[in-house]
Amino acid sequence: MNRIVSKEHFSPHVVKLEVEAPLIARSRKAGHFVIVRVGEQGERIPLTIASADTSRGTITLVVQAVGRSSKKLCALDEGDAVTDVVGPLGQATHIERVGTVVCAGGGVGVAPLLPIVEAFHKAGNRVIVVLAARTKDLIILEDRMRACSDEVIIMTDDGSYGTKGLVTQGVESVIQRESVNLCVTIGPAVMMKFVAALTKKYEIPTVASLNTIMVDGTGMCGACRVTVGGRTKFVCVDGPEFDAHQVDFDEMMMRLRSYKEEEQK
Ligand SMILES: Cc1cc2nc3c(=O)[nH]c(=O)nc-3n(C[C@H](O)[C@H](O)[C@H](O)COP(=O)(O)OP(=O)(O)OC[C@H]3O[C@@H](n4cnc5c(N)ncnc54)[C@H](O)[C@@H]3O)c2cc1C
Ligand code: FES
Repeated sequence: MNRIVSKEHFSPHVVKLEVEAPLIARSRKAGHFVIVRVGEQGERIPLTIASADTSRGTITLVVQAVGRSSKKLCALDEGDAVTDVVGPLGQATHIERVGTVVCAGGGVGVAPLLPIVEAFHKAGNRVIVVLAARTKDLIILEDRMRACSDEVIIMTDDGSYGTKGLVTQGVESVIQRESVNLCVTIGPAVMMKFVAALTKKYEIPTVASLNTIMVDGTGMCGACRVTVGGRTKFVCVDGPEFDAHQVDFDEMMMRLRSYKEEEQK
C-alpha cells in the first residue's frame, strides 16, 4: 500500500498525486514509469513518474481520467492508499542538450509529456510545445507546459482555441520558421504516426513514447509488443521511447483496439 500525501487538480480530468514510495523515488530517472493498481480487484495500469522527492520519499504522478481505472485513481484523496505501485520500470529518457526540441502532445499523451518537456528544458534546450485537441475544453496542462518551455502552440481541430488545425500543422509551422534538432511526440498512435511521417520528410530525428496496453510491465508477457525497424520490441522493457521513424504505428493501432468493447463496459 502506498499512501497519497497530496492531491491537486490540474483540470477537471487531470490530477497530480504525490504518492509515498521511497525506494522508487530513490532510483527513478526521467522517463521511468510505474504500474499501479487501485483496489484488490483493480487492473494494472502504467503511469509515468512525473517527478520524485527523495527527502519526502515520494513520487508524483499526473493522471488523466480516461477510463475506469484512471477515474478510480483520480477519485482517491489525500490520506488514501494506492493498492500497488511497482517501479521504476522502462528505460530512462535520453536527455541531452541538442538545441531546439519540439514536443508534440495530444489526448492521452499530454500528461506523460510534461516531465519530458521539463527535463529537456532543464538540460538547456530551447523547447517548443505543440498541444493539440479536438476542442478548447480538451486542452490540458497549458499553464504547466508554459512554465517549463520557451513557447506553447495550441492547435484545435475546430479552431475554438489557439490555431485551427492538426498537431502536424503546428509542428510544421515551427519547422518552416527555424531549425529543429529533435521532435518528441506522445499521444494517440494515429497522431504519432502523422507527426513521424512529417518529420521524416524534413529528416528531423523523432522520438515517440509509446502508450501500448501493458499488464506486468516487466517483460514477461509481450502484451506491450510493437514492431520497430522490423523487429519485435517490448515497450515496457525496451521502451517506452523509440525512434518514431521505425515504429509500425498501423500494427500498434490495431493492437490498441483489442479490448475496446470491454473498456466501454
Ligand atoms: C509507459 C506508459 C506511461 C503512461 N503514463 C501516463 C501518465 O503519466 N499519465 C496518464 O494519465 N496516462 C499515462 N499512460 C496511459 C495510461 O496508462 C492509460 O490512460 C490507462 O491505462 C487507461 O486505463 P483506464 O482503465 O482508465 O482506461 P481504459 O478503459 O483502458 O481506456 C479508455 C479509453 O481511453 C483511451 N486509452 C486508454 N489508454 C490508452 C493508451 N495507452 N493509449 C491511447 N489511448 C488510450 C482509449 O480510447 C480507451 O478506449 C501511460 C501509458 C504507458 C504505456
Ligand atoms: S507488459 Fe508484459 S511484457 Fe510488457
